[in-house]
Amino acid sequence: MLIIKDILYRYKSQNQEITYNFSLEAKRGEIVGIVGASGNGKSTLLDLISGFLKPISGTISFESKDITTLPPEKRPITILFQKYNLFEHLSVEKNIILGVSGTSKKPNMKEVHKILNEVGLNGFETKISASLSGGQQQRVALARSLLRDKPILLLDEPFSGLDYETRAHMLTLVQNITKSKNIATIMVTHEPNDCKQISDKTYEVKDGKLTRQ
Ligand SMILES: Nc1ncnc2c1ncn2[C@@H]1O[C@H](COP(=O)(O)OP(=O)(O)OP(=O)(O)O)[C@@H](O)[C@H]1O
Ligand SMILES: [Mg+2]
Repeated sequence: MLIIKDILYRYKSQNQEITYNFSLEAKRGEIVGIVGASGNGKSTLLDLISGFLKPISGTISFESKDITTLPPEKRPITILFQKYNLFEHLSVEKNIILGVSGTSKKPNMKEVHKILNEVGLNGFETKISASLSGGQQQRVALARSLLRDKPILLLDEPFSGLDYETRAHMLTLVQNITKSKNIATIMVTHEPNDCKQISDKTYEVKDGKLTRQ
């Protein structure tokens, strides 16, 4: 179980100050949805959990191991950022292989093709990523993060560029993989319906605070 306890963080700029103060738990096999309007701190929450931002205080532990001070790459966490996830000049397949082998797990090519099929990109293996549409690139990045072998998956608006039907299909895929790989998934979205469809519990983030829905 992932236990995030009393994380405190303050962001100050010239015209605003936001105090983040939150606790959160996610079990393996569970999807925690976080909804909130633009600018309310969704990406910042994920940056704090993944270690790209350092909290003032608070603790993060996974299966009884304190990971609060570990650098991002040493955490048992995969994060799918909101954008700029791909090496644009490399092919779809290379992007996936590189992204997965970065985690010490050698990618199984059968699995790579299976997941590309599942995100609707069968036959795109050798295409250069920059030549894909925004929604297609998003699906390559999603496929890659679903193949990585970490027990915690953080998704930052993974479906924002997708049409209704593709989005519904990707949601089901995330749900199936969370259950079959028994990982803890935290999904950030501005679309409450995403959470209604697949989250086991949902929180709203507003001005750096979380409220259970
Ligand atoms: N390094 C930072 N740390 C914390 N907050 C930041 C930082 N940089 C910018 N902010 C501000 O914090 C607020 C929350 O930003 P954040 O990107 O987390 O929102 P968001 O909910 O992900 O928005 P969006 O839906 O548009 O992606 C914004 O007002 C933003 O300007
Ligand atoms: Mg964001």
